[in-house]
Amino acid sequence: MKDIALFYGTYTGVTRMVSEKIAKELGADKIDVYDISKDGEKMGDYKKLIIGTSTWSIGELQEDWDAFMPKLQQMDFSGSVVALFGTGDQAGYPDTFLDGMGMLYETFQYRGAKFVGFWPTEGYDFTSPLPLLDHDHFVGLAIDEDNQPELTDERIKKWCALIRPEFGL
Ligand SMILES: Cc1cc2nc3c(=O)[nH]c(=O)nc-3n(C[C@H](O)[C@H](O)[C@H](O)COP(=O)(O)O)c2cc1C
Repeated sequence: MKDIALFYGTYTGVTRMVSEKIAKELGADKIDVYDISKDGEKMGDYKKLIIGTSTWSIGELQEDWDAFMPKLQQMDFSGSVVALFGTGDQAGYPDTFLDGMGMLYETFQYRGAKFVGFWPTEGYDFTSPLPLLDHDHFVGLAIDEDNQPELTDERIKKWCALIRPEFGL
């Protein structure tokens, strides 16, 4: 078992693809990557977590994360370091862009997690308040493969450089 784990939830595979790129960028040999629909029970074994979700149905958490929510709400993340990322569509769903990431932020925060990897809002166009830490920052990395796929690799690279020291890498 490695000491960092990445858990993702996906419907069409975008968040899985982003997860694999993040793991590769940080060092695939240093991170266990899990699909939340299959391996959610392993989350309690780790103190360093990377958590990724998409948003569906106009502001709803990805369905496998939604199904895992009752378990998440029983867990204790005090002493845990968490970096979040979300995938969404800011042009199609500006009012609910990355709401799923915002929902996971609220849940992990309530359960005591310390967050790293806040991400600037510059270069995005949306109105949803939920994924925001403050006016200028998302609570985690924001990926929009629907409208800005050409920016994904660069965003992942920069974000990984940001979180690397926080995870002792
Ligand atoms: C019916 C539908 C509803 C969606 N609702 C939202 C939404 O509310 N907010 C958002 O940011 N993206 C929304 N999206 C976009 C997806 O979250 C986005 O395509 C994402 O990359 C899918 O990732 P996945 O394949 O990992 O689930 C929606 C897409 C569809 C087709």
